[in-house]
Amino acid sequence: MTRTTAPDISHLPALPHWDTTPEDLPAAIREVKATLRARIAASGRSVEEVFAVIEHRVRDRVDEIVAAKERGEPVWPEIDYADIASGAVPAAALGQVHRRGCLVVRGHFPREQALAWDQGIVDYVESNRFFENYRGPGDDFFGSVGSRPEIYPVYWSPAQMQARQSDRMARVQAFLNGQWISESGGIRWFDPGRDSLYPDRIRRRPPGTDSKGLGTHLDPGTLDLWMTQDYQRAFRHLFDGTVEQYDPWDATYRTAGPQYPGSTMCSVFRTFQGWTALCDMAHDQGVLHTVPIPEAMGYLMLRPLLADVPEDDMCGVTVNQVFPVSRKWHEPLLPALTGLPDIQAGDSVWWHCDMIHSVAPVTSQQGWGNVMYIPAAPWCPRNERYAESVRAAFLTGMSPSDFPAEHYERDWDNRTRLTDLNPTGRRGLGIE
Ligand SMILES: [Fe+2]
Repeated sequence: MTRTTAPDISHLPALPHWDTTPEDLPAAIREVKATLRARIAASGRSVEEVFAVIEHRVRDRVDEIVAAKERGEPVWPEIDYADIASGAVPAAALGQVHRRGCLVVRGHFPREQALAWDQGIVDYVESNRFFENYRGPGDDFFGSVGSRPEIYPVYWSPAQMQARQSDRMARVQAFLNGQWISESGGIRWFDPGRDSLYPDRIRRRPPGTDSKGLGTHLDPGTLDLWMTQDYQRAFRHLFDGTVEQYDPWDATYRTAGPQYPGSTMCSVFRTFQGWTALCDMAHDQGVLHTVPIPEAMGYLMLRPLLADVPEDDMCGVTVNQVFPVSRKWHEPLLPALTGLPDIQAGDSVWWHCDMIHSVAPVTSQQGWGNVMYIPAAPWCPRNERYAESVRAAFLTGMSPSDFPAEHYERDWDNRTRLTDLNPTGRRGLGIE
């Protein structure tokens, strides 16, 4: 069913909202679930009916992806950087990016450049005796291998900053941001042509690694997704009887609101999460997987409202823990989980910010697994707010405030300095 005119929703019950973490989580969950159900009912549809619409949409996609995998067809769209640079991305490839919500950009950087950056990171940490001084993981989100970390809590190396402020990165980010609706109702929700250079870490996973991987999860938030006023507005179509209009590419109300604090939080709005490969990686060596269905977010948001979920339970989602996607509650989505194809040094990998993802386990990994995490985080009120703390961290060599306060680089003389920034870097950090 498609509605051609906007329904009048003024009579629907208003949702209670908490713009900071509620003190009594079970009580808040009960209250918000009851009101969400009442709101959907007042729109003239049942929760079951609304959920069935999303479930049908998502199950069709799951079937399509499973069939493609069985035929041996690629599931992850692949786009050549040269086509992005020349504005010649084929329409069919663009359609696939929208359909799948993820992609590989081939040849984003020349291979030699990526390999030089990888070596540059080794030189950077070794010149600062990082391995001798390493104090162990600052959080337990990623594991470590022996006394040597797999995730380097390093943010300001020349390699990272060169990649973040490069023209090639800016072009791809603008292309990715352009897949979203950034303006609606006379409001510009974000600037697709300006990125905020979100500083993140490096992963260097050596050959021979055994890793349990990371289970299926989401990154955009936890209970705040149902409980803050801005997120309630962003997901409004799921809750006001207009589920057919839910568009995972619409940034309306997504770029200014708060987020509940937590050790795995990301303060910024990202259109896509991403990383750039610093070595070749085979598809069966513990790589990233996604459920490449952007609309699955609607399923995850509505699933807790069904009658089989306890009243004070949001299908296991709670604050200060990553949003779990589980067999218990989300089984029908999981057959679509699909890993990356083989990746070459210099390729980059991107996935929609609401997308379910995991990292496969690996035993005795063949070759390295080295990436720089660089997302697309366009300039918007939320990202401008965070950029203030990023500037302070950059100028002093501290760890950015979204990450453990390890601050290894404070005394490292060869970290990136203000004079090393180009105009893209200055704009991204909000230094005019
Ligand atoms: Fe994640």
